[in-house]
Amino acid sequence: MLKLGIIGTHIITDQLLDAANKSGQYQLTTVYSRNMKRAEEFGKPYGATAFYDSLEKFFSEGDFDVVYIASPNSIHYQQVRLAIENDKFVILEKPALVNPHEFQEINKLLTAHPKARLFEAARNIHTPLFKAVVKKISQMKFGGATMNIMKYSSRIDKVYEDVQPIPNIFNPEFAGGALEDLGVYGVYLAVALYGKPDSVNYLPTMLKTGVDGNGVATLTYGERSVTIVVGKTSNNYLGTEFYGGRDTVWLDSAFNLRQGIYYDDQKQGHKFDVEVADNDMIYELQDFAEIINNLKDADKEAQYQRWLQLAEDVNKVIYDLRQSCDLIFPADTNY
Ligand SMILES: NC(=O)c1ccc[n+]([C@@H]2O[C@H](COP(=O)([O-])OP(=O)(O)OC[C@H]3O[C@@H](n4cnc5c(N)ncnc54)[C@H](OP(=O)(O)O)[C@@H]3O)[C@@H](O)[C@H]2O)c1
Repeated sequence: MLKLGIIGTHIITDQLLDAANKSGQYQLTTVYSRNMKRAEEFGKPYGATAFYDSLEKFFSEGDFDVVYIASPNSIHYQQVRLAIENDKFVILEKPALVNPHEFQEINKLLTAHPKARLFEAARNIHTPLFKAVVKKISQMKFGGATMNIMKYSSRIDKVYEDVQPIPNIFNPEFAGGALEDLGVYGVYLAVALYGKPDSVNYLPTMLKTGVDGNGVATLTYGERSVTIVVGKTSNNYLGTEFYGGRDTVWLDSAFNLRQGIYYDDQKQGHKFDVEVADNDMIYELQDFAEIINNLKDADKEAQYQRWLQLAEDVNKVIYDLRQSCDLIFPADTNY
């Protein structure tokens, strides 16, 4: 059983802990929150026994192997540094880091701390459905893709009503916005399937807070492209399509994959018949535990290195997309 510590006490951590319990492979022991009472209230129902409001003490005294970090995006860098310096296995929420400079620094730290591992919690690529799609697409020609990734944010009304403070997810200080939030899932699918694009372009629709509420990203691969329509101001239901020319793979979502259909060259649909868990975070947790529990297995180490490289490639593509439209965050100017 892997002992788990957590940073961040919001909804996604509840979902992660539900998946951790269901996996039977992790037990929450230790909670960090900026507020001690919050740490206790959040962690006790999950069986945690140690609580900290000092991040340094959480890492130096806490009895855990794995730390799950689900704090606002721009805070990840400083927290993951501490985690690696303390030789932890780190599950870091997407987007792992804000820019390639941060990634390079973290890579250097990982080299200096060979016991530590860094996993980005890109839950979509760990699902059985996506793994089945990878297999199918490897048999198809490359015809590009269209992804529709829009979800109405419960926090957007606060932006419209000028409520202060600005919700973190819509605040440039915290590297928020549609691309860094939902867009990451689309870029993950594209780079996992097709590798790094030749060039990228992003057309954001900006909110008054200084982040993108919506946008259209284009990833160009030779004579084909992947178009990602992303947004946090509406819900959409179009789903995601991967083209092969005469055949197509359709998915209902790019981030919460529940249904997939392969349409053959006769336009006949064939459903992907795979397990879909109610809480799909279980799949990434199982994948990460498999690595952590088999550190001497060369194949598993190679798989870990591929995920780390994929995380770095996604980070660079997202950064290039932002650079293409001068969407700069304070975290980009720290260097
Ligand atoms: N995988 C998914 O499906 C999924 C879904 C949602 C979010 N996420 C990712 O999870 C991360 C957290 O997102 P979220 O919406 O939960 O963020 P959030 O609500 O803004 O903050 C998450 C937690 O971070 C701490 N926090 C808040 N503001 C902070 C600040 N100014 N400085 C330091 N810590 C602060 C809070 O914990 P304490 O008050 O206890 O310190 C809070 O519970 C993001 O990277 C996001 O992209 C992933």
